[in-house]
Amino acid sequence: MYKQLQQRGMNSPPINVSTLRRMKAEAEPIACLTAYDASYAQLVDMAGADLVLVGDSLGMVIQGQETTVPVTVDDVVYHTRIVSRGLSRAFLVSDLPFMSYATPEQALDNAVRLMQEGGAKMVKLEGGQSQIAVVECLARHDIPVCAHVGLKPQSVHKIGGFKVQGRGNLAAKQMTKDAKALESAGADLMLLECVPNEVGELISECIDLPIIGIGAGPNVDGQILVLYDMLGITQGRTPRFVKDFTENTETTLDALQAYVSAVKDRSYPAKEHCFS
Ligand code: KIV
Repeated sequence: MYKQLQQRGMNSPPINVSTLRRMKAEAEPIACLTAYDASYAQLVDMAGADLVLVGDSLGMVIQGQETTVPVTVDDVVYHTRIVSRGLSRAFLVSDLPFMSYATPEQALDNAVRLMQEGGAKMVKLEGGQSQIAVVECLARHDIPVCAHVGLKPQSVHKIGGFKVQGRGNLAAKQMTKDAKALESAGADLMLLECVPNEVGELISECIDLPIIGIGAGPNVDGQILVLYDMLGITQGRTPRFVKDFTENTETTLDALQAYVSAVKDRSYPAKEHCFS
């Protein structure tokens, strides 16, 4: 009945928000990956990843879309449900897709779907100060929130491409302000995408939440990559921060373990994966 209490005695009990906070406090890097189905989720979990994200990157790597914009709540609910069946330890986070959180009420309805129908333990949304009311509403209803700042792929058509964000004093200051406001609004975790190393460091110094970086340099609390990028499945040009971990490994599980080890011993990201 009290599954959570029984799991506490396990060798590696399931990760929750308290574990993530403790890992930050103890400076243990948080290793994260995306997953989109039960089989890969199981391997990612076995490899020791602490957090699995069902990202709206599924639009690009699973559906073959050019951006994440066409992804729907139904798509994310479906992939979350099947990923959750493959996990036993890793913490499951799901993306609220484009325009599914335009108002606090809409965000609440869709976050409830990701949690109740999909099994997500936390929802992620892209935004800055404009999302404060949404984050406050979710937090007020005890829905754990990951705030995604830096490059926001759902805004690709407004930004004019997938570009490094936060370059220059003004932009870095604005991003720091956004991060602080999202923390005060009740976010539990932050994902920081595609910013110069110094911006990653600056935001880390300003907020207490664990920060997971993707192309945000080494000075954050954890790293995440898109599964199909780090397994060398994605064809063509990939972002600078991507490393193919299948090199010198024999199996998919070996490659996933190599990634988790590299995050834990801080050998990833190396200089060549960072922005200045
Ligand atoms: O959708 C996604 O996969 C993401 C990445 C930044 C990990 O948000």
